[in-house]
Amino acid sequence: MTTSKPQQKQAELTEFYQQYSADEDQDRTNVHYEQPVEFFYAITGGKWNVYSCNLWDVPGVHDDTTSQEAKLDRFAQLVDLKPGQRILDVGCGWGGPLTYLCQKYGVEGVGLTLSPKQLAAAQERIAGAGVNAQVQVCHWQNYTDDRPFDLVYTDEVIVHFFDLGGFFAKAYALLKDGGRMLNKELHYVHPRYSQMNRAISHINEIYGFTGNYRPLAEEFRLVNEAGFDLKAIEEIPMSQYSKTVTSWLNNMDTHRAELESMVGKEYYHRFKVYLRIIMRTFIEGKMTLDMIVSQKPAA
Ligand SMILES: C[S@@+](CC[C@H](N)C(=O)[O-])C[C@H]1O[C@@H](n2cnc3c(N)ncnc32)[C@H](O)[C@@H]1O
Repeated sequence: MTTSKPQQKQAELTEFYQQYSADEDQDRTNVHYEQPVEFFYAITGGKWNVYSCNLWDVPGVHDDTTSQEAKLDRFAQLVDLKPGQRILDVGCGWGGPLTYLCQKYGVEGVGLTLSPKQLAAAQERIAGAGVNAQVQVCHWQNYTDDRPFDLVYTDEVIVHFFDLGGFFAKAYALLKDGGRMLNKELHYVHPRYSQMNRAISHINEIYGFTGNYRPLAEEFRLVNEAGFDLKAIEEIPMSQYSKTVTSWLNNMDTHRAELESMVGKEYYHRFKVYLRIIMRTFIEGKMTLDMIVSQKPAA
């Protein structure tokens, strides 16, 4: 059945789980990610410009950089990252997490993004750090590689994937036997909450209506259906997201004039409203934030 344009527009506003082609996914997510790199760098702050929840209640964490590193160190521990391993960061942003992991843990990596601006920023960062990593503008559906990976990971990226089962099957095919997959994402605590309302629609619009939030149980089912064994599930308290977003809001205030001149007053305001809405959503108790580690069985 084909959907007419006005019907589709209406559906976007009222429902998650819209299926688009790979090209349309790119156009839609880039409404957001092709905003100026400097806009996101000022807001995310720190050395690695991580655009996802970081960890604050960890000894030694006192600012954006250390909170970003604490989260990435937790990833490394959860998957037992070892020097010489090869990792794939699907949805690598501006390359900060991949660069950090390559530098600190002596691994080599590949990053995928849909945004040419993110690609250029990531390449500059990787060259500056002198780590063994490459980044490509490539939808995960179109990525192929002759060399298998030890780890495939996503950090608040699978929300953009309509075909999550297809993504897990792709990750499985790209991994070595015994290789691991790590996905960090927000999950509804019950399917009844996956209803759109005005606030959630505002969040979804920021990302070009590519939202696919799911209950955790659905993700587990898809992980198993792709052939993976579930190895570890670790919840990140929502307080950590509130602290992350509070820091982003403070950074917006500090750099207000500069940010408004980059993207205009209206977009600056819309982005701030978006951050305030997600803060509210987090304290409603309808979502959890979880890291799921799974493993391709050894041959
Ligand atoms: C919220 S950002 C997260 C960036 C990074 N993981 C971090 O934590 O800082 C989402 C990223 O996913 C990428 N992305 C979204 N859909 C994608 C797809 N289908 N294939 C590859 N990358 C995708 C975007 O281009 C962006 O880089």
